[in-house]
Amino acid sequence: MSPEEIPLARPLLGEAEERGVLAVLRSGRLSLGPLLGEFERRFAARLGARHASAVSSGTSGLHLALRAVSVSDGAEVITSPFSFVASANVIVYERARPVFVDIDPRTLTIDTEAVAAAVGPRTAALLPVHIFGWPADIAALERLNLPIVEDACEALGAVHSDGVAVGARGHPAVFAFYANKQLTTGEGGMVTLGDAAHKVRIDSERNQGRAPDMDWLDHDRLGFNYRLSEIACAIGLAQLERLDGMLAARARVAAAYGEALAPIEGLELPCPDEGGNVRGWFVYTVSLPRGSDRDATIRSLRERGIQSKPYLPAIHLMSYYRETFGHRPGEFPVCEDVAARSVALPFYPQMGEGEVARVAEALAAALGRA
Ligand SMILES: Cc1ncc(COP(=O)(O)O)c(C=O)c1O
Repeated sequence: MSPEEIPLARPLLGEAEERGVLAVLRSGRLSLGPLLGEFERRFAARLGARHASAVSSGTSGLHLALRAVSVSDGAEVITSPFSFVASANVIVYERARPVFVDIDPRTLTIDTEAVAAAVGPRTAALLPVHIFGWPADIAALERLNLPIVEDACEALGAVHSDGVAVGARGHPAVFAFYANKQLTTGEGGMVTLGDAAHKVRIDSERNQGRAPDMDWLDHDRLGFNYRLSEIACAIGLAQLERLDGMLAARARVAAAYGEALAPIEGLELPCPDEGGNVRGWFVYTVSLPRGSDRDATIRSLRERGIQSKPYLPAIHLMSYYRETFGHRPGEFPVCEDVAARSVALPFYPQMGEGEVARVAEALAAALGRA
């Protein structure tokens, strides 16, 4: 990568993370040590959630959360087709069926009226996604009286209109800590929970189905290896300490983008915070003006040393979902329209205003609006 290239994402790590990792290495306790519980307690406290269980990824957290609310063979789970594929895959892991419904064109989160219309006798749970960090309307979904698992993988720092942090409503909510996320442990995840019984089940199933007080080779249920290492927990604890600063920096970069991109005609920007809803900034995605050539725009940005990518593709149109469930274009028009036009631009907390300006100028030029 040339020095002037602007990457899509870049984690913010420092001496605290280095010190934490070194201390773990020196302790010789690399997994299932004291930092696991500490990271869980501090994360839960930070959000105002009752419990938290650390896991190896957002995907494994979603999988265990679905099992905790008893989704199994032949059930249906209503979810969004505009998400990272993992939120639908975990439903299929349990031999249940993802029932997709369309999204709201402004917030890009699941359309709650479409959810209500899709509820049927086999509906076992709802899996809304706080996509791009926007808090989905969980209060509206709560009125349907079904178990809810929240995909909050992109939404650390988001707040609902009633002032409750995303992840603190009591439903299992899952956060992800991949390197591009608001908080990273390299790979990792956290499930926040209101129900102590859910925590017991998740803690056991992430560790091969072992009960906490059991002999280490005795297992009373089916489980997985979805553990988070002490090294990852040390990084997570250091990241948690600097989380306020990192979230504020992301919000600052987003505001700079908002100003720099506003003059580009036809370009659709992420919806601003309103009515008490606060976005937890994860990516900065724009929808290109109708009729523009997305591939050519991305190529043109790359020639100017700027990384970008189409984000996100519609899940129901991916080959596996078409072939397995018979999905076809046209089923979810809002999702398909956004998926065809959306582009993620470089976005990370240490991004400077000069870099934001360079991206905005390059995008305007690529779209022929310079
Ligand atoms: C919306 C969404 N769901 C689930 C995941 C899965 O998280 P992980 O990659 O940690 O398994 C991600 C992460 O990229 C995500 O963005």
